[in-house]
Amino acid sequence: MTTHAPGPERPPGPRGHWLFGNTEEYDRDRNGFLERCHREYGDVFSYDARTIVVSSPDQVHALLARTNKDFLAENSPLAGPVDTERMAADAELWTSTRRVGWQGLHRRVARAHAERLREIFRETVGDGETDVLATMAAFFGRATADFCLSVDAEGVPEALAENVAAIDPLSRSSLQLPPWWPSRRVRRFTRSRERLLALMTEVVRRRRLAGDPSAQDLLGLLLASADRGLSDLQIERFLRGIMLAALGVPATALTWIVYELGRRPDVRARLAAESASAGDVPELEELPYTEAFVKEVLRLWPPTWLIGRTVRRETELGGWRLRPGDQVLFSLYRLHRDSRWWSDPDRLVPERWLDPHVAPARHTYLPFGAGPRVCVGTQLGMMQLTLATSWLVGDMEITGPQEATPDFSGLLVPRDLRVGLRRKVVPRGV
Ligand code: HEM
Repeated sequence: MTTHAPGPERPPGPRGHWLFGNTEEYDRDRNGFLERCHREYGDVFSYDARTIVVSSPDQVHALLARTNKDFLAENSPLAGPVDTERMAADAELWTSTRRVGWQGLHRRVARAHAERLREIFRETVGDGETDVLATMAAFFGRATADFCLSVDAEGVPEALAENVAAIDPLSRSSLQLPPWWPSRRVRRFTRSRERLLALMTEVVRRRRLAGDPSAQDLLGLLLASADRGLSDLQIERFLRGIMLAALGVPATALTWIVYELGRRPDVRARLAAESASAGDVPELEELPYTEAFVKEVLRLWPPTWLIGRTVRRETELGGWRLRPGDQVLFSLYRLHRDSRWWSDPDRLVPERWLDPHVAPARHTYLPFGAGPRVCVGTQLGMMQLTLATSWLVGDMEITGPQEATPDFSGLLVPRDLRVGLRRKVVPRGV
């Protein structure tokens, strides 16, 4: 690809307010703003002097595939001076832990957790008028703590929930606050993070003392890989990272699933028929339509709808030169609904995933990301969502709202979604 030199240094983009730039308009309606700019400026535009937004599948994929090498992923919701060396060192440490941890998250291990998931689903997803996101967060909080720590999970779901709740208001504002900022929001976040990390330290210490090599959970696997040279600190940080990632995003995805179930009785009937003919804890092969439905909901409503990277070293993307510390963003939501790649893009059509001869165009469907920082929980997450959908339609009558407002300010969530869940009078299989 040719670099635009010696022409303009930056791609065109909206100028915005003379002092605040585009922040105000962006924060008022993030998705609307990005959509308008894409329409007006095309596949690459400047948001401000240090930030570009890309939209074509190849640019998006290049950004993700070249992460760690040319770009860096930042996980903290707090602002700091952009320090690419510190970020690169963090990325290296994380990546070496993730190489080991990956073995504890693949499909076979995920499957071994399915029976426990069923019990947790029964205990957390109850009868009556339901705040869907809160219920699904409780379900995934317990599921992820159990998967990672099994019998040592006591107190962890609560600490996790508090940490997730404290991150939420920080990630909703594009004005990132530094860690020293004297505000309740920042203090609440740092306190909850420290509490969770202290719990992790305690659990790792206890497990090491007990010296029980038989524990069949993620912590057991990480400790058993001591020969790979993982320090306790690495293990604690990795567990926290995994548990946070395995709570908010899947809970949000399941909330969108409930939303679509409420809106589409035709789809729900077909899902219920598949659920009735499958076992209580089925293999995914028994649920092809359910899996297709989950994929389609993740296309329409990807919780991680906006993904960003910091430029690590001088490089180019989409023909534009980038300097260390620049930011690059893309909207997964827009990619998944771009009519250049998808027919009838705004409509839920699970069937589009069932025809083996029709695959999405290259790099147009990335609900789990791609490249070296692709989601490590892809298989576990798909299994959890598919089984939970089958249990929802098998166990429950769902009544309730036809509409909900999508909220793009943090993760993409249906704002304040409430539905009625009522256990079916005749239980499944009877
Ligand atoms: C079920 C729905 C899920 C969805 C839609 C999802 C989506 C994603 C996406 C898009 C990313 C990449 C973000 C980026 O590139 O910046 C990601 C990263 C990640 N996900 Fe998931 N995820 C899901 C479930 C899970 C589960 C169950 C786990 C844990 C077991 C998990 C653990 C992670 C971790 C640790 C990362 C960061 C990876 C890294 O930076 O190296 N996710 N996820």
